[in-house]
Amino acid sequence: MTDPIRFSAPCHFGLEKILRFEVTRIGGEDITVADGRVSWSGDALTLARANIGLSVAERVQIVLADYPAATFEQLFDGLAAAPLERFIGREDAFPVKGHSVNSKLTSIPACQKILKKAAVKRLQRAYGTDAFLPETGPVHQLQFTLLKDRATVYLDTSGEGLHKRGYRRNANLAPIRETLAAGILDIGRTRPDTVVCDPFCGSGTFLIEAARRACKIAPGLDRRFAAETWGSIPQSVWQDARAEALDRVDRTAAFEGIGYDVDPNAIRLTMDNAKKAGVDKLIRAEVRDVKAFRPTAGAVIFTNPPYGERMLEQEQARAVYQTMGRVLSRPAYIICGDSDFERSFGQKADKRRKLYNGMIMCQLYMYF
Ligand SMILES: C[S@@+](CC[C@H](N)C(=O)[O-])C[C@H]1O[C@@H](n2cnc3c(N)ncnc32)[C@H](O)[C@@H]1O
Repeated sequence: MTDPIRFSAPCHFGLEKILRFEVTRIGGEDITVADGRVSWSGDALTLARANIGLSVAERVQIVLADYPAATFEQLFDGLAAAPLERFIGREDAFPVKGHSVNSKLTSIPACQKILKKAAVKRLQRAYGTDAFLPETGPVHQLQFTLLKDRATVYLDTSGEGLHKRGYRRNANLAPIRETLAAGILDIGRTRPDTVVCDPFCGSGTFLIEAARRACKIAPGLDRRFAAETWGSIPQSVWQDARAEALDRVDRTAAFEGIGYDVDPNAIRLTMDNAKKAGVDKLIRAEVRDVKAFRPTAGAVIFTNPPYGERMLEQEQARAVYQTMGRVLSRPAYIICGDSDFERSFGQKADKRRKLYNGMIMCQLYMYF
């Protein structure tokens, strides 16, 4: 029996509970939840399942070390004591990046340098050499956080962020992250036969995420992950996790996605992306200004309307929210960064939830 591996996955603030539930489903044990992060223990198969199957995680990391570090010496010693050789081979590359919040060690380049030295020392000792480590092999990205003088060093297993599902071609100006859209669809409890409508569909993220969720297509089924190139993780776990995910796909879902947007390019983008995502048969989209919106019986609305940061844009956006208030049907889940949204919309939400869309603090306004 090999020791369990400790994993951790960051997520959007506000989606931790959803991620926790997804982690139990992939077999994670000893789960802990912090702000914007869920951690658990598991094995190599859990690692593959997590990357392929978690819909709201931003990436999957291995926790290499977690220790107090108020000085450079402590920062060095903590990582030099961690079993890096379990994952990083003699030839592998191991760049270091990270950030520091509310800690005595504030210089990121200095912390990077110290942690790099600690990793080199540890690996040289483990591989019985004083020689220069060539770092010509697969990349093992080390990511550190210093928070209140505590260092946590992670090893990234995902590579590109998990919001990159592999289906979105050219995003429009303000696409919602796939991971955030997936979380909102979960909050709205969409089922395989839900009719989902997005009157501001942009590149189609809500519709595509909803359709794939209805068909039980694992979010990461169409892409590759950094840890697939590693010698320390057996290829068989990726094959097994992909086979499990393929087994679950159910294309009999009676799902229907309906998208509108005033911009013809957005409509083309939605349909192109839906095709790439393998769900174009379940989605239709057409050019339509929200002024001409007509409700579809039984449909649930999920949308993020235009949002303006500058004065003029804000006024235009608020005029759109006013129209929405007149024409949209319920239930509706609307994510918006304008804290005065309800006033323009003309109706108080039945429920609200704070969520971040990138750096913008938003509310999810729920009308039942
Ligand atoms: C924030 S974006 C939506 C992004 C989308 N959720 C995505 O993931 O790509 C807002 C969209 O609303 C569209 N839009 C702006 N005014 C509109 C109107 N009056 N009627 C319909 N669509 C409009 C824009 O063209 C834009 O695509």
